[in-house]
Amino acid sequence: EAPLRDLADARGIYLGTAVTGGRLTGGYADTAAAQFGSVTPGNEMKWGSVEPVRGQFSWTGADRVVDFAEAHGQEVRGHTLVWHSQLPSWVENGTWTPDALRAVMTDHVTTEVGRYKGRVDHWDVVNEPLNEDGTLRRSVFGATLGESYIADAFRAARAADPAARLYVNDYSTDGLGAKSDGMYALVERLLAQGVPIDGVGFQAHLILGQVPSTLEANLRRFAELGVDVAITELDVRMTLPATDAKLAQQKADYAAVTRACLAVTRCAGLTVWGFTDSDSWIPDFFPGQGAATPYDESLNPKPAYAGIAEAL
Ligand code: XIL
Repeated sequence: EAPLRDLADARGIYLGTAVTGGRLTGGYADTAAAQFGSVTPGNEMKWGSVEPVRGQFSWTGADRVVDFAEAHGQEVRGHTLVWHSQLPSWVENGTWTPDALRAVMTDHVTTEVGRYKGRVDHWDVVNEPLNEDGTLRRSVFGATLGESYIADAFRAARAADPAARLYVNDYSTDGLGAKSDGMYALVERLLAQGVPIDGVGFQAHLILGQVPSTLEANLRRFAELGVDVAITELDVRMTLPATDAKLAQQKADYAAVTRACLAVTRCAGLTVWGFTDSDSWIPDFFPGQGAATPYDESLNPKPAYAGIAEAL
């Protein structure tokens, strides 16, 4: 049976996975390379990873993932430049005037995007800017700078690598609802201001049996604004233990998300947030839940793998 990356290529989308750079050897590396046409560093490009101390950059982890991608003919989704979480404490706990924070933020974007110029295909420039009700999250950036930080981050990213596709990315925006309405209105405003935004990422951290019925319609309304869309962090979590019935439902869920992307011409691709249950954030963040990815802990494909393959 053909690898997922080839099936996806033939349908005009990329099939990607988040990876952990430090694990890219042996069977983990072999599967990541064989099956996926795009990789996202799960943590290695976050601000706290690359600039833990102001002005001291550490690119080892990010370089490892980008080098791996190049060695295996894979695209890279850079993740992520401006986010309220996994910030270095010097940013999160600093006392900032608006001008000082804006300068620090744009320097960070310019430095990181510049380092990987020509090597990162898509950047999640701004991650999780919204609250559940669709209003602007009062992160250090939102609270200090208001919505203007988003435009500034995109402009800095475009200047640093004009060829990279620049995305805003969030969770719980997958279906229609208050939060995705907020994202829709945000993207409309950014476009009206001439902000260089190319796409909207939908994380799709989903619960078993709860793929939003409006996923496709939601992707389509964003695409009709004239931007690309992508599923950027798909996983489907279940209460443990996994059973055959749950794994069958999960297969249907993965297939439904894949079909929604395929149905929307401007859906550029789909990324799973870890391809093996041994490399998933879910058990750590949602106690009692897991088995959220297409491969089990021993790197055997699960029904979800077949769900993606059949949908492709
Ligand atoms: C997660 C990583 O997978 C974990 O290893 C880390 O401890 C926390 O972050 N939304 C995002 C991702 O945009 O960056 C998060 O990744 C999962 C939720």
